[in-house]
Amino acid sequence: MGYEMLVLGIETTCDETAAAVIERQTDGSGRILSNVVRSQIEEHAPFGGVVPEIAARAHVDLLDGIIASAMSESGVGFDKLSGIAAAAGPGLIGGVIVGLTTAKAIALVHDKPLIAVNHLEAHALTPRLTCPLAFPYCLFLASGGHTQIVAVLGVSDYVRLGTTVDDAMGEAFDKVAKMLGLPYPGGPQVERAAANGNAKRFNFPRPMMGRPDANFSLSGLKTAVRNEASRIDPLEPQDINDLCAGFQAAALESTADRLSVGLKLFQERFGTPRALVAAGGVAANQAIRSALQDVAAKAQTTLIIPPPALCTDNGAMIAWAGAERMAAGLIDDLEAPPRARWLLDAKATAPAGFANTRAGF
Ligand code: KG4
Ligand code: ZN
Repeated sequence: MGYEMLVLGIETTCDETAAAVIERQTDGSGRILSNVVRSQIEEHAPFGGVVPEIAARAHVDLLDGIIASAMSESGVGFDKLSGIAAAAGPGLIGGVIVGLTTAKAIALVHDKPLIAVNHLEAHALTPRLTCPLAFPYCLFLASGGHTQIVAVLGVSDYVRLGTTVDDAMGEAFDKVAKMLGLPYPGGPQVERAAANGNAKRFNFPRPMMGRPDANFSLSGLKTAVRNEASRIDPLEPQDINDLCAGFQAAALESTADRLSVGLKLFQERFGTPRALVAAGGVAANQAIRSALQDVAAKAQTTLIIPPPALCTDNGAMIAWAGAERMAAGLIDDLEAPPRARWLLDAKATAPAGFANTRAGF
């Protein structure tokens, strides 16, 4: 079968500089021809978090080389590309401008269509790159900036069913890591420490449990961890492991409860979802994977989680979303703006009690 499209994707919204080339077949299936990710962990580690100005400068320095590697690894020439996709937001605006402007220049020089991709839409559509999955499905998107339950009804057709009212889940993992002196980025560190800890030693709160809406809250849990940590101070390695295990268990139990409500809301409005899909950096967490298995089974649906390397930010997800949008006849002109904020569900409003300037609602 011949290919339908070859798309270059560029990702620069946070601290990964990434580019990839994917192929989308006429039957809707996909194949990754190259996927080059350069994490800026080393640049940001001394500061314990992502510094926007450092990220933007690093994207400028790195992006051309990353694109060149992605193109040469794929064996595809620029002239053979069907389109150039870039994440146009939401994210740190300096980085977004670097990636989108570069994509525009390539599109202009090679006379190719530009696709300005919403980074969240790319996370939402990623599972369709690696397995045949039809709409509609229920998405749990959990990353450093977002924690949402979304009904994915089609390309460009999303309804948000729940969101965090304060911290994003990845942000909570990162903050807990920081307060316990674990290095940045914290999510994988907390997971590793938790694997050696006793989750029952501390009785942390399970935020929002039993509420009829599908919203999340994580800042109270984070504060509870902070209080225990300062009570124990100085912390021994086993204390850190136990605090991480307790935090992760509470976050997962609350997530399972919120998702079972989200799946119920989905069922009432849109019928049975074809799958429960988890995406975003937090979906790389192995403990979350097993917790969600139970939630999906109870809702009589299947759980799909892309491989960890496609859960964290990468260029293949942007290229794939670009191909999906092109196949739906959605392309952009060179005026497409970079956006720091960009809702997946344009009709969504901030939930009651929303209190965060960093996590998108
Ligand atoms: O999707 P992503 O790569 O970037 C954003 O768009 O934010 O997600 C990054 C977030 C970080 O907060 C990181 O700590 C978290 O995902 N994360 C994890 C794990 N791996 C990454 N959180 C918990 N467990 C993990 N294994
Ligand atoms: Zn992301």
